[in-house]
Amino acid sequence: MKQPIIAPSVLASDFANLEREINMINDSQADWIHVDIMDGVFVPNISFGLPVTEAIKRHAKKPLDVHLMIVQPERYVEAFQKVGADIITVHVEACQHLHRNIQQIKALGCKAGVALNPHTPVVELENIIADIDLVLVMSVNPGFGAQKFIPNTYKKIESVKKMIQASGSNAVIEIDGGVNQQNAKLLLGSGADVLVAGNFVFSAADPKKVIAGLKAV
Ligand code: DX5
Ligand code: ZN
Repeated sequence: MKQPIIAPSVLASDFANLEREINMINDSQADWIHVDIMDGVFVPNISFGLPVTEAIKRHAKKPLDVHLMIVQPERYVEAFQKVGADIITVHVEACQHLHRNIQQIKALGCKAGVALNPHTPVVELENIIADIDLVLVMSVNPGFGAQKFIPNTYKKIESVKKMIQASGSNAVIEIDGGVNQQNAKLLLGSGADVLVAGNFVFSAADPKKVIAGLKAV
């Protein structure tokens, strides 16, 4: 099986030692740095915003994978590109004009992703799949780290994969929430390409070893 792209989520890191945490990711086998932006409106939690993302970028040697869990993301897409986002993902549930939002992200030179909440059907992607670089399948309800993985995700990945193949899209499938060494293999077998992991990585005594384990699954 091909190796997954691993994206540790800094939401679970020690914010008081952000430079150390980013250096750990730099020195690890991780591929991307997952940056969770929460506005307290789209999701019932507030994480951090532009200045912290800019601080992460200052130390990052890997692409920033920015996951916007915010309403009206079009208001902030350009600002996140300016502070260093390489990939920007917006939620289908938060966008009234998703196609326009995707064009906006691509025009800024970023890769564009679309995220689906656990209850959102895959068919929502049908008319946008050919235009995007990434589909983010939420495997927990967005808003918090360290939640329990929702098993319906496997089925959902298979449908997204079928849609990608049928449309000739080059989009990769990213899974976010409750990822660990136990479910990683089945996720990849179902068609996932990118694994986000927060708590599983940062609560470990040796996070680099955990990242290497996910990479080698
Ligand atoms: C949840 C966030 C996730 C979160 C994942 O709303 O989008 O990226 O950080 O954390 P774990 O891996 O702990 O579920
Ligand atoms: Zn996320």
